[in-house]
Amino acid sequence: MAELSLTNVIKRYGSLEIIHGANLDVKDGEFVVFVGPSGCGKSTLLRMIAGLEDISDGEIKIGGRTVNDVEPADRGIAMVFQSYALYPHLTVEQNLNFGLRMNGNPKADTDRRVKQAAEILQITELMQRRPKQLSGGQRQRVAIGRAIVREPQIFLFDEPLSNLDAELRVQMRVEISRLHKKLGTTMIYVTHDQTEAMTLADKIVVLRGGNIEQVGAPLDLYDDPANQFVAGFVGSPKMNFLRAEVVDNQAGRVAVVLRNQRNVRLSLPIATAKVEIGEQVTLGIRPEHFLEAGRGDVDLTVDVDVAEHLGNTSYIYANIAGDEQIVIEREESRNTNNKDTLTVALSAAKTFLFDNAGNRLR
Ligand SMILES: Nc1ncnc2c1ncn2[C@@H]1O[C@H](COP(=O)(O)OP(=O)(O)OP(=O)(O)O)[C@@H](O)[C@H]1O
Ligand SMILES: [Mg+2]
Repeated sequence: MAELSLTNVIKRYGSLEIIHGANLDVKDGEFVVFVGPSGCGKSTLLRMIAGLEDISDGEIKIGGRTVNDVEPADRGIAMVFQSYALYPHLTVEQNLNFGLRMNGNPKADTDRRVKQAAEILQITELMQRRPKQLSGGQRQRVAIGRAIVREPQIFLFDEPLSNLDAELRVQMRVEISRLHKKLGTTMIYVTHDQTEAMTLADKIVVLRGGNIEQVGAPLDLYDDPANQFVAGFVGSPKMNFLRAEVVDNQAGRVAVVLRNQRNVRLSLPIATAKVEIGEQVTLGIRPEHFLEAGRGDVDLTVDVDVAEHLGNTSYIYANIAGDEQIVIEREESRNTNNKDTLTVALSAAKTFLFDNAGNRLR
């Protein structure tokens, strides 16, 4: 087990800078998830921690030791990839003990570690099978087992579940969570999937274009996003962003109206941000935060486009003034289908304000 720190880590390929000075502290035993859109640098960051990529500048420490020039095999890490490439001609047991045998680890110790990993992952009865005789989920467990037998200080996972079907992903997600509880080892986990991020992480790192946008506990990111990008990335369906305009600004409160429905006016507590009357801003509201008409600070009537009923909840896709698409989540609204319009309420306490550059106004 070990803590990890990145200080001003930069990655360049030639003159192209991919990671622009990453700073991050991971505590011993923490489960940290990297999320962000494709190409934002998640894998690059993970591969630099593993030592599979050199860093162009900065410092990486594992367990207090600078590892910039330490070989991957000597960093005390084990990595699990999306494509898990088991040796097809070896049994599960041989796949698990392969690395340790090659390193000349004493047989008794190797056997102990393999047995323990197999028990943790519940694959003991599969030990004599070959990979092609396993399901996708079982193969992924063997791949994780290969990492466990190395008894690393830090586990690194790069989208380990993205080859699995939806049901198996959920199952494996729970198993990885259980594994972390059982081993207590530091884990860094890369995913596109924001549900995986929300459910697995002690701490989420949101990346965009090679920059760390925000680091925080899942619910802190949900409740208190630093900017419009994080607000839109965390939560599903994603937060609605409505065009708004500042119409009043005094005594620590800012009043805005929707640009497409100017009779909808909300007053928000904005203590520090400087905003001008007439300024064009964005009002953010999560689909699940619309209230029954009359129950909030102001009502909003929308044109219903499509309603999706999932049983426990419904997603209503609607328009404001035939122009702005929004999504409203309602617990019980099975008869919204045959209505043309819907009136809901907005509450200032459940909305966010962003300036034109996407910065949070607070
Ligand atoms: N060897 C390389 N040379 C030049 N650019 C590279 C190289 N490897 C990666 N990149 C670029 O670095 C950026 C980050 O790539 P990276 O693989 O880290 O993204 P990612 O966040 O893991 O994306 P994905 O979610 O698609 O896996 C991308 O723009 C990519 O094109
Ligand atoms: Mg990647």
